[in-house]
Parts: sequence; structure tokens; C-alpha cells
Amino acid sequence: MFAIRRSIVPLTSSIFKRSMITAQAVLYTEHGEPSDVLFTHKFSIDDDNLKSDQVVVKTLASPVNPSDINQIQGVYPSKPEKTLDFDTEKPAAPCGNEGVFQVLKVGNGVSDLAVGDWVIPSQVNYGTWRTHALGTSSDFIKLPNPDQSKSNGKKQGLSINQAATISVNPLTAYLMLTHYLKLAPGKDWFIQNGGNSAVGKYASQVGRLLNFNSISVIRDRPDLDEVKKELEQLGATQVITEEDNASKEFGGQIKSWVKETGGELKLALNCVGGKSSTGIARKLGNNGLMLTYGGMSKQPVIIPTSLHIFKNFTSAGFWVTELLKNNQELKSKTLKQIIEWYENGELKDAPSTHVEFDGNDLAKLYQQGITDSKKGKQLITYK
Ligand SMILES: NC(=O)c1ccc[n+]([C@@H]2O[C@H](COP(=O)([O-])OP(=O)(O)OC[C@H]3O[C@@H](n4cnc5c(N)ncnc54)[C@H](OP(=O)(O)O)[C@@H]3O)[C@@H](O)[C@H]2O)c1
Repeated sequence: MFAIRRSIVPLTSSIFKRSMITAQAVLYTEHGEPSDVLFTHKFSIDDDNLKSDQVVVKTLASPVNPSDINQIQGVYPSKPEKTLDFDTEKPAAPCGNEGVFQVLKVGNGVSDLAVGDWVIPSQVNYGTWRTHALGTSSDFIKLPNPDQSKSNGKKQGLSINQAATISVNPLTAYLMLTHYLKLAPGKDWFIQNGGNSAVGKYASQVGRLLNFNSISVIRDRPDLDEVKKELEQLGATQVITEEDNASKEFGGQIKSWVKETGGELKLALNCVGGKSSTGIARKLGNNGLMLTYGGMSKQPVIIPTSLHIFKNFTSAGFWVTELLKNNQELKSKTLKQIIEWYENGELKDAPSTHVEFDGNDLAKLYQQGITDSKKGKQLITYK
């Protein structure tokens, strides 16, 4: 997968006596619980002998996402290949899918990237839990770094958090809202459960920016009013609870909201499953589409037969990895839109706790990040 073998040398090699970059990566040789199977591997990158198309990058930040953990456990359908490219004794796989790097050096044939550029991996499974990488320019997609945004006259540059987490959640929200159905701005509606999730917050904001009306369903909680207010400020037109979503009587309220705008409730976004998915599916008008992109309740999606027969309801899955795997054009177009909104200050990123790598054991740091991710998104940053 990586064209790096010849330029990566183990630390024990005699070549190491020359000046080279000492890198670390978090790897595993067997699937299992991250606390059992992750280890830190040190290697050197010979940056004095780059091939013409090669690029050396340093990591600026990489998050811990639920799918990263599932990959290590071996329960996620898309996985990195185990490889000897890192000069490990046994084939090992790198961890981490998202992250932002800064270009340190480029080969003499590279014209699309320059030293100082910010880049993200062009494909999933690149392995972003590492200090450095050696790849080819086609392994990366360029993002504007803050200096470049400034010199292009933009209101602001991307933050580290925005750049490191740009390729999954914002793209998921944008594509679910635009790629399958055409919602009429100002008129049509979508409904989503998990309205308080990171993807849900992006969907509310994208909805506002594209002028789509939206209903966000959230679980009841002691600070319900505060959370409702926050989601409405982000862009949700209405915020309701799971109890409202489950109630037949509340259906009338939703119908009157939709009637007021003269549109239809066409699209449902489901990341919960179970009764919550039944509730949002029931709210759709005729010919509605529900996209299931997550299963947080671990319950199956439950759809009444009558919705299929009498309302021509469609239930489909959404997986950003599969959609964009062979469609770089759609990925670039979507990224461009998200970058523009970030640079204009029109889109807020999902906050994360930043933990800086102190140069010690990288695997331990991500293992702690995995534990702490139950309390909120963790972003490992590098000096
Ligand atoms: N298919 C794709 O391409 C794709 C892309 C991105 C993300 N995803 C998936 O989308 C989901 C959300 O991801 P995220 O990063 O946005 O998550 P997140 O920010 O961690 O939010 C998790 C959400 O799930 C809700 N939740 C958790 N357990 C629940 C339960 N038992 N019943 C009802 N709601 C529950 C939480 O509600 P509370 O606030 O009430 O706890 C919260 O709204 C995950 O399943 C993720 O894997 C899929």
C-alpha cells in the first residue's frame, strides 16, 4: 500500500548514523482490544534520498474516532493491510484514518505540494497515529494552511481541529443532505435522530447554510433546554425529544410545521436504530428516504410494512468510505465546500480535547485517548 519501504530503515540499521528523521507509529500485528494489541514502533526516514515523487510529512494532529477503535478490534469492514513496510518482524498495520500533516520535504519531481503545505491522506487506512510519514504526492490532498488562507484574503484559516477532522463527519453530513435527494431550499425538511451527535450538529449547520428546514431528535436530559437552544443556534429549525418522536399525537405538530413552509418532509438521517428509527421514518411524507449511517442504540432498524406499501418509503445505508472510495472528484468538491465555509467562519467544528504528544510512548497516548473518548472527542496534537 505504501511506496515507502526503500526509504524507511529500522533504527538498528547502520545507515541510521547519518542524519535521518526518527519517526514513531502506532501499529498492531493482531486484532484485539487496543489496550492489549497496540505498540509503538520506531523507525527512521531517510529524507536525504527521496525519489522524485516522494514527500516527507510530519503529523500536526490526529483524532480518535469510533471507527479507528473498531478497526483495531477487527470488527470494521474497511481495514488497513498488514505490511512489512515499517520493517517490523511480523506484518503490522498502522492505526488512525483521519489527521492533518505538514509537508517537510518534497522530491524534485513534486509540483503540486510544497514545504509548509497542510495535507490530509487521500485514502482511508493511511495510518495517521504516527509522528511522520514518507509517501508519494498522490497519497495526500492539500488543504490551505492558515498563512495561505490569509494571503488568499479569507476571513480565517482552518484550525488544527478543523483540518484534522475534516474528512469524515462534515463530509458525511453534507453528502447525506445533497447527494441523494434534491431538497427545495426554504420549503423542504429533513429529520434526524442523534441530533446532538457530531454528525448531527454538522447536518443542522449544513441544513441552515443550504436553507433546508430540519427537525433534530435528541434524548431527554436534565439540561434539555440548553441543548435545544445550542442546536437551534447551530441551525436546527426544530428540536424534539425521543418521546415526541415516539408519540402519534406529535405527528400532527410536525405536519403543521411542514405545511407552513409549503414543502415536504423528504429525508430522514438515522444513526440510532430501534424505535428511534421507526419514529423518524413514520414522520416522512410519501416517497421519503431514510439513510442509516450509524447504529448507536445497537438495535436493528425497525420499519412498519405499511410505510413501504402505502407510502413508497425507501430505507438505504450510507457509508462515506464506500461512497468516496473511487470518487476523488466528489471528495474534492465536497471538501472545497466545507473548507470555504470554515474559512468564511460559517461552519463550526465539533470540539475536541487536545492532548499534546510529549515524545514518549505514542501507543500509550492513543490508548489513553481511546479510554477518554467516552467523555468526548480526543485529538492528539504534535509540536
Ligand atoms: N456511515 C458513515 O459514513 C459514518 C460517518 C461518520 C459517522 N458515522 C457514525 O455516526 C454515528 C455518530 O457519530 P459521531 O462521531 O457523530 O458520534 P458522537 O458525536 O459521539 O455522538 C453520538 C450520538 O449518539 C447518541 N447515542 C448514543 N447512544 C445512544 C442510544 N443508546 N440511543 C440513542 N442515541 C444514542 C448520543 O446521544 P446523547 O447525546 O443522548 O448521548 C449522540 O447524539 C456513529 O455511529 C458513527 O460511527 C458513520
